[in-house]
Amino acid sequence: MATVQLQNLQKSFLDAQSKKETLAVRDVNLDIRDGEFLVLVGPSGCGKTTLLRMLAGLETVSSGEIKIGGRVVNDVASRDRDIAMVFQNYALYPHMSVYENMAFGLKIRRVPGGLARFTQRAKRRAALKDIDNEVREAAAMLDITHLLDRKPRALSGGQRQRVALGRAVVRHPAVFLMDEPLSNLDAKLRVQTRAELIKLHRKLGVTTVYVTHDQIEAMTMGQRIAVMKDGVLQQCDTPLELYRAPVNQFVAGFLGTPSMNFLRARVEETGNTVEVHAGPFRFSLSPAYAEALRSYCGRDVTFGIRPEALHERGSPHARDIANPVTASLHVEVIEPTGANTILFLQGQPEMLIASVEAQTSAREGEPLEVAFDPNAAHFFDQETEEAIR
Ligand SMILES: Nc1ncnc2c1ncn2[C@@H]1O[C@H](COP(=O)(O)OP(=O)(O)O)[C@@H](O)[C@H]1O
Ligand SMILES: [Mg+2]
Repeated sequence: MATVQLQNLQKSFLDAQSKKETLAVRDVNLDIRDGEFLVLVGPSGCGKTTLLRMLAGLETVSSGEIKIGGRVVNDVASRDRDIAMVFQNYALYPHMSVYENMAFGLKIRRVPGGLARFTQRAKRRAALKDIDNEVREAAAMLDITHLLDRKPRALSGGQRQRVALGRAVVRHPAVFLMDEPLSNLDAKLRVQTRAELIKLHRKLGVTTVYVTHDQIEAMTMGQRIAVMKDGVLQQCDTPLELYRAPVNQFVAGFLGTPSMNFLRARVEETGNTVEVHAGPFRFSLSPAYAEALRSYCGRDVTFGIRPEALHERGSPHARDIANPVTASLHVEVIEPTGANTILFLQGQPEMLIASVEAQTSAREGEPLEVAFDPNAAHFFDQETEEAIR
């Protein structure tokens, strides 16, 4: 096991034709703890794969430093970094059985001179026995023992995915690097495999960097989540802390489903209190919020409220709020999801989304009284999009 440290890590690609430079990864600083399961998440094209490939030694570093287990590995070849990768397109050897697919990498490394040489027969036999034990142990852990004799073409997508994982597990690496390994699986299998990967991590305790563009995967799997946008690391923290206190509007909107609502809001000072006018809502701020927003008086900010923080007035959740902010909103569309109901509300001028209990009195085309706790409000600077706090 090992720590992974990234210091001022950068990667630029030069387009041969246009001579234009793309900064795919910009000045990333990140300390990944020994044994941690860290999820790297961000929209497509934000530099996740590039960052992971640099960690793996498959891509050179433009500037900055990568340390694995305290050792600078910038110039260390991929095979000497003590890492194992699992990709989205886990290429298994089609002509080899599952067993051979899992054992192959170990044989290449450990059996001197391949299998054809005569001289060290005893040594070779011992090495093969060890490999056999390790393959069977990993197969048992991943529940694929009954598949060991099959060829990849006789496996389902989920089974192939396990074999690819097995091939990584038998290597006993210090670090696992995974790039969207579940994206080829159907929704149900993805949820199931997600849980199994977490179990596997608990069991093996190997430091893991897991890349995904799926925020739900990130929230459910990561011990910590590193959020990237345009090659820049935005914030790295636990899932709940990112949800509770996003540093900027991008992180706020990226994590959480449905996404946080954003409204243009006006901040005004009235006597001793600081007031906010945001679409249909008008409320005065508690002392802590007022302190942070006082310098914005007379200006516009962005007000953010999560759909699950908007309640139906009179519902049990709303009744628990000490000083609720309320307004009457026109209900445009109602989408029941089973567990809860999504409401599309006219927020003047923006649309507001509320996620309320399945049993709702909302009716399409009619007004609905909504309520939220002002302590659940988020505010962002309009220019920098950074959280105001
Ligand atoms: N080999 C390459 N040559 C030029 N540009 C590249 C190369 N690989 C990636 N890029 C660019 O770097 C950016 C980040 O890509 P990538 O790391 O694949 O993003 P992600 O994995 O987050 O979708 C993109 O703009 C992509 O076009
Ligand atoms: Mg990618």
